[in-house]
Amino acid sequence: MNTLTDTRPKAHFTPPAGWLNDPNGLVFFEGEYHLFYQYHPDGLVWGPMHWGHAVSRDLVNWEHLDIALWPDDLGTCFSGCAVVDINNTSGLFPDKPGLVAIYTCHRDAPGFDRGYIEEQCIAYSHDNGRSWIKYAKNPVISTIGKSDFRDPKVFWHEASQHWVMSLAVSQEVHFYRSSNLLDWEFCSRFGEGHGAHTAHPWECPDLFQLQVEGTTEKRWVLVIGLGASEEAFGSFTQYFVGEFDGKNFINENPPETILLMDEGRDFYAAQSWSDAPEKQRLAIAWMSNWKYANQFPASSYRGSMSSARTLTLSQQRDGVRMKQQFSALTAPTNQLSSSVLINDTWCAETDTGARTGYAHLNLATGTSVELSFFDPASADLRVTLDESRYRFDILRASAQGEATFKGLFDHDYSCELPATGSLRLEWTTDQNSLEVLLGGGLMSITQLVTYSEAGAPLHIRRIEGECLLEEHAEALIA
Ligand code: FRU
Repeated sequence: MNTLTDTRPKAHFTPPAGWLNDPNGLVFFEGEYHLFYQYHPDGLVWGPMHWGHAVSRDLVNWEHLDIALWPDDLGTCFSGCAVVDINNTSGLFPDKPGLVAIYTCHRDAPGFDRGYIEEQCIAYSHDNGRSWIKYAKNPVISTIGKSDFRDPKVFWHEASQHWVMSLAVSQEVHFYRSSNLLDWEFCSRFGEGHGAHTAHPWECPDLFQLQVEGTTEKRWVLVIGLGASEEAFGSFTQYFVGEFDGKNFINENPPETILLMDEGRDFYAAQSWSDAPEKQRLAIAWMSNWKYANQFPASSYRGSMSSARTLTLSQQRDGVRMKQQFSALTAPTNQLSSSVLINDTWCAETDTGARTGYAHLNLATGTSVELSFFDPASADLRVTLDESRYRFDILRASAQGEATFKGLFDHDYSCELPATGSLRLEWTTDQNSLEVLLGGGLMSITQLVTYSEAGAPLHIRRIEGECLLEEHAEALIA
C-alpha cells in the first residue's frame, strides 16, 4: 500500500486550510447551494468554532467565501441551519427575501451542568450570504439548564403555518415552533426509549417529509447523530420514520428498532438542504468520525464532506426505509456489451482517478467476491450471498498514521441486506474516500481510506462460487 499524501479530493468539499467538521446552514437560494461548516481556521484540530462558507451550482465544484460567523461574547458558533425568509416573517427583510442562519452559541461556564452553556442565536444576511449581521437580541432561545442543547434545524411547516425547530437536547430531540423565527415556543420532546442511545448526547437533528416511492403516501423522517462513545464504533447517524403534526413526532416503528443512515464509519452530522430545487431532499455529511477525526493524517487541512445524496423512501418488507442516491455526479458510461462470468479476477477498463459507477452482480448461493477500488492487492469490500441474504464485509487498514490513529481507524465489520435478485452496487471513489450504495441505495457505506491515489481500476475477484457481472459502468468525476 502507498503512503498518504495531502492531495485533495476532487469531488468532495474540503476547507481552504485548517479544520472542518459538520455541514451547517445548508440552503439553496437564487441558484446557489450554500454550504457552511464547522470551521477552525487556525488549527488542524477541533478548536473555537466559526462557520466557514462556500457556494456551488452543481454540488461538486465549490467556491470558497469569507468566514460567515465568528465567535463573540456569547461563545463560539456551533452547528445550525439556514432558511430563506421568503415572506419576511421576521421583519428583517423589508426590501427583498434574505437568509437567516440559526445556530448554537457555546461558551464555557464552570460549574454549570457539564461545564458549558449552549443557547440558540440567529444571524441574517441581505446579500446572499456574503455578509452576516448577528441579531441584536440573541440568544433567541436561552439555556434551559442543560449543557447539551444544540444544533437547531428549522423548516417552514406548511400545514401549521409555523417555523419548526428540531433541537438536540441531551439524548432527545426537542421541537419548538415560531411564527417569526425570533420568538420560540417549546412543543414536545422525542427520544427516550427510542432507537440507539450511547453515553454521548444526540446531535445534529434534521426533520423532513418524503414521499414513499411508487405511492401517494408520505412520511416524516427524523435524522439524528450519535457522538463517539466507547461502547459504539464511534459517531454514527440514525433515523426514525413516522408522523409529525407540527408539534409532535410519532415513531411508527417499534421503539427498539435502530435504523442507520450509513453503515460505514465516516458519515456524521448529516444535514439536508432547505429549499432545494424541485422539492428534492439533498443531504451531505461530514466524512469522519469523532473517534479519530483529530488524528486522521493531514498536513494543510483536515476534514471533508461526503458527496451529496438524494434521499427518498421505499416500502420494504419490514417497513418504510430510506434510500440514497448520489445526487450530482456525472452519469456513468463505458457500459459492458454483455455479461461477464468472473472466473478469477475481472478488471474494469476505466481510467483511474476520482470516479463514480455502478455494477449489477448476479451471485449464485454460496458465492463470495471481493472488490478493490484502489489497490488490486487489497480488497475494500467482500460480498457473500447465503440462502437469503447478502453479507458485506468491510476491511479497512491504514497505511500509516500514529499508533492511536491506527488503533481506532483500522477496522473490519459487516452488514447485511435481504437478497432479492441481482445486487446493485453504486460507488464514488476519491482521494481518501470510498462511498458505496448497496441494494439500490437501501444501504450506504461511507468511509475514509488512506491510499495515496484515487485508485486503480475496479477489480472484482472471485473467492468461491459463481458470479456473473451483468452490468458495469463508470465515469471519472473531475
Ligand atoms: C457534531 C457536533 C455538534 C456541535 C459541533 C461542534 O459533530 O458535536 O453537536 O454543534 O459538532 O463543532
